[in-house]
Amino acid sequence: MTTEKRNILVTSALPYANGPIHIGHLVEYLQTDIWVRFQKMRGHTCYYVCADDAHGTPIMLRAELEDITPESLIARVGAEHQRDFARFGIAFDNYHSTHSPENKDIAELIYQRLRDGGHIARRTITQAYDPVKNLFLPDRFLRGTCPHCGAEDQYGDSCESCSRTYSPNDLLNPVSALSGATPEQRESEHLFFKLGHFEQMLKNWLADNELQSGVVNKLNEWFEAGLQDWDISREAPYFGFEIPGEIGKYFYVWLDAPIGYLASFKNLCDKQGIDFDAYVGVESTAEMYHFIGKDIMYFHTLFWPAMLHGAQFRVPTNVFVHGFLTVDGQKMSKSRGTFVTADTYLEHLNPEYLRYYFAAKLAPAIEDIDLNLGDFQNKVNADLVGKVVNIASRCAGFIEKRFDGTLSETFDEPAIVDEFKALAARIAECYEARDFARAMREIMTLADSANQYIDKRKPWIVAKHADSDRELHQICTTGIALFRILLIYLKPVLPVMAAAVEEFLNCAPLVWGDVDDDIAGRRINKFKPLMQRVETDKVEAMIEASKNQDAISTQQSAAKSKDSNFITIEDFAKIDLRVAKVLEASAVEGADKLLQLKLEVGDEIRTVFAGIKRAYQPDSLIGRHVIVVANLQPRKMRFGLSEGMVLAAGSGGDDLFLLSPDPGALSGMQAK
Ligand code: 2FM
Ligand code: ZN
Repeated sequence: MTTEKRNILVTSALPYANGPIHIGHLVEYLQTDIWVRFQKMRGHTCYYVCADDAHGTPIMLRAELEDITPESLIARVGAEHQRDFARFGIAFDNYHSTHSPENKDIAELIYQRLRDGGHIARRTITQAYDPVKNLFLPDRFLRGTCPHCGAEDQYGDSCESCSRTYSPNDLLNPVSALSGATPEQRESEHLFFKLGHFEQMLKNWLADNELQSGVVNKLNEWFEAGLQDWDISREAPYFGFEIPGEIGKYFYVWLDAPIGYLASFKNLCDKQGIDFDAYVGVESTAEMYHFIGKDIMYFHTLFWPAMLHGAQFRVPTNVFVHGFLTVDGQKMSKSRGTFVTADTYLEHLNPEYLRYYFAAKLAPAIEDIDLNLGDFQNKVNADLVGKVVNIASRCAGFIEKRFDGTLSETFDEPAIVDEFKALAARIAECYEARDFARAMREIMTLADSANQYIDKRKPWIVAKHADSDRELHQICTTGIALFRILLIYLKPVLPVMAAAVEEFLNCAPLVWGDVDDDIAGRRINKFKPLMQRVETDKVEAMIEASKNQDAISTQQSAAKSKDSNFITIEDFAKIDLRVAKVLEASAVEGADKLLQLKLEVGDEIRTVFAGIKRAYQPDSLIGRHVIVVANLQPRKMRFGLSEGMVLAAGSGGDDLFLLSPDPGALSGMQAK
């Protein structure tokens, strides 16, 4: 392994800004964070950057559903993501957004260079268009009958029943998942990236770099199948960057997403005076690695290196691909309570448990990893609490009480300390190769040896002998020295525990090279408990709290709401319509479309939020009679509780009319 100082730029995939971070995401961020922390401990310059992936139709629709601007949605979700990452100890050097000036600049630059290099083509294509929502429908927002097996209610591009994929044009009886309308076929001109121009370059990239064998196999399959042009434009309305020189055309979210890696790094360089080109310029001697999941390999191993090369940037040194997370052997599931968000996890459990457990499972292959909840509890308790922490707690008390917190000048058994030191290179190799599972096994074998040493030397017995001070002092010092080395090895995985140990050992932040330091005669601090056991009831409470949490994606809520275009007479009979009087009406801060109404409904006063701002001035409504759905389940909105719904209707265009009782009936009511 090289001892030269390296310059390394590292990224994890950018999470979409429309949903929370969950334990499935965390596999990747924790894997990357551990690797980066290891590189930093080795003394290398290593920057870890990330950002929110803020563009695209789902984010636009999610904001619409919440009646907020996409900008406020991405600001809110971005803050939540950063909070969750920080609480899991994921230490980015920079966290940015793809909806940023840096990303706009770099995306435009890359596009212009590709266009000027002759790598962009133009073609008219026909696509499904939702005539009610007035937008082109991404495949995922189309539902219909599978052309292969006849299963109903399938996505526009693939069938969950027979797993076949198809073109959206072949879907039978298609409907828009957004409005339920039958989509029209409309033409529009799209821009395409000529991926085929880069075939030789990509083959060279593959030959020159040590990609994982699973990646090499996939790339070869894709080369054999032939590299297709990539559609990089989307028509308005779209939340993203407008393409320079075009009107109403936007970069497809997947074009500017990986550029977000560079944008986040640029933002860091500007803040800290780092030389951007030294890392990403075509002459760069720095290393650049992307950690990603296996589902987004095509983007990162074909489009991305080709785009970078075509736009005169350096290409990635490697793309590190991992598998998915299963929980107890199955896909994460809301109904089983195994779709656990980062936030819910943190309400119940210590983040370092998961850091360790994932580390113990992560190997360099592209295999799925399983979080087995029983194994999780046993492993953390046995390894961290039972083995590692135990070493210190068995020795620290004697040092504190009998030796005034000072370590002895010499060890009882220097050979075992040397054995521990000798493993530094092998464990470092494991970390470097992302074989964290092997690193954890090596470390736990050492922890076993340390415990065996203490079992053999029995300080609690020695302590009872007269004239045994020197021996006791040396045994406990040896135990503490072994513990210290273990914590250096574990520090990339357990930064919080490592910080507590640095406090206990009264030392500066530990780095890899400190393994060889002499700690003889040092004063240490009082030992405090370092980690509680994982309790069964906490794990169960986390699963219970995760059961059937609210649907989080627009796609899912849209898909639910469109199930059928009809309601039955029984459905209709459930609706309790009442006449109500508007007592107060006002605009809602932060909401483009909503008015807040105070209504008199019979003897009750209710607050209702209504999406009628574009059609009515608040003042014009006061005193007016409207129709409300009185038995609608109160809905918690960002702005408060909405206790009903005011009926309004339009003709399908932009117009909107509140429904009111006719005057005859009203006079009858007033007469009461
Ligand atoms: O698959 C995803 O979740 C994407 N948001 C990942 C983007 S990674 C990069 F290209 F930005
Ligand atoms: Zn099918």
